[in-house]
Amino acid sequence: MTAIIETQGLVKQYGKFTALKGIDLTVEEGAVFGFVGPNGAGKTTTLRILATLLRPTAGQARIAGHSVEKERRAVRRAIGYMPDFFGVYGDMKVWEYLDFFAACYEIPKDVRATLTKDLLELVELSHRREDYVDALSRGMKQRLCLARALAHDPQVLILDEPASGLDPRARVEIRELLRELHKMGKTILVSSHILSEIQEICTHIGIIEAGELVTSGTLEAIREQIQIHRVLRIHLITRLEDAQTWLAGRPDVHAVAPVTANGKTDLQVDFSGDDEALAGLLAEMMAAGFSVIKFSEETTNLEDLFMRLTKGIVS
Ligand SMILES: Nc1ncnc2c1ncn2[C@@H]1O[C@H](COP(=O)(O)OP(=O)(O)OP(=O)(O)O)[C@@H](O)[C@H]1O
Ligand SMILES: [Mg+2]
Repeated sequence: MTAIIETQGLVKQYGKFTALKGIDLTVEEGAVFGFVGPNGAGKTTTLRILATLLRPTAGQARIAGHSVEKERRAVRRAIGYMPDFFGVYGDMKVWEYLDFFAACYEIPKDVRATLTKDLLELVELSHRREDYVDALSRGMKQRLCLARALAHDPQVLILDEPASGLDPRARVEIRELLRELHKMGKTILVSSHILSEIQEICTHIGIIEAGELVTSGTLEAIREQIQIHRVLRIHLITRLEDAQTWLAGRPDVHAVAPVTANGKTDLQVDFSGDDEALAGLLAEMMAAGFSVIKFSEETTNLEDLFMRLTKGIVS
């Protein structure tokens, strides 16, 4: 697989504040890369640099082999960018809006008519073509904006929270649309602060926090990280405190704390290891004479992983 988006040591400073602290990001051709992080993490800053709208303070970024600083025109041809907030050209009709942006990309007039029609069909706005942009709902505006980003048939789509502020149905529609674009062979870099929302459509995930890339990789690799890093619930008849001390002394236990629910106190254990290591832990507890009557793993999903990773606990 070839990398189509690549950044090396990307740094962005706003005055004295460092918003990006050296981001090394690689997105492979054909990937749907979910760029996830909490508010203020640096997602928009990164995406704006990639879209050539913001200059990095240090470091490099290339898209389809072109430098975002030195070959801005080539980069702009290669990408379709959807900002997190778009200025509205409210007094244009839907079709005029698309026609206008296609003209900006120097697409000939006779081609534009068919193009506009196709794009409106793709984002399911054909029935609104004669309406003013102002009259569209937020979800429709977002889809129109996506159509606009596609006008020059770019290889790469850079989408900044395309589903933000949409109702559940409109979110699903955006997701379906991204799926379709993925099938068409586009590489998609899409940001979100809600991991669970985009994990379904992503092939890769990168998690950013406070200007640093905490982790990135294929969806499976990220899932594996969850399994290696797990949360256990252990219930004992007696010697809870002894067990807590014993567990805390192990290198594969990161944290252990008593938790009380329904009048019963369990130990909650933050543990690193595969299934075999887990079985080994139980065997050792039994051998050490602890009266374990419950030994179970809390189900973790990607959202939990995200919460833990962004708190700095990485296995
Ligand atoms: N023009 C600016 N001047 C000063 N600071 C800025 C500017 N733009 C962004 N920042 C700061 O840089 C940090 C990263 O902002 P950025 O918008 O990239 O985050 P984000 O991950 O997109 O967040 P959100 O999820 O809220 O969209 C934040 O602390 C923000 O306040
Ligand atoms: Mg943002």
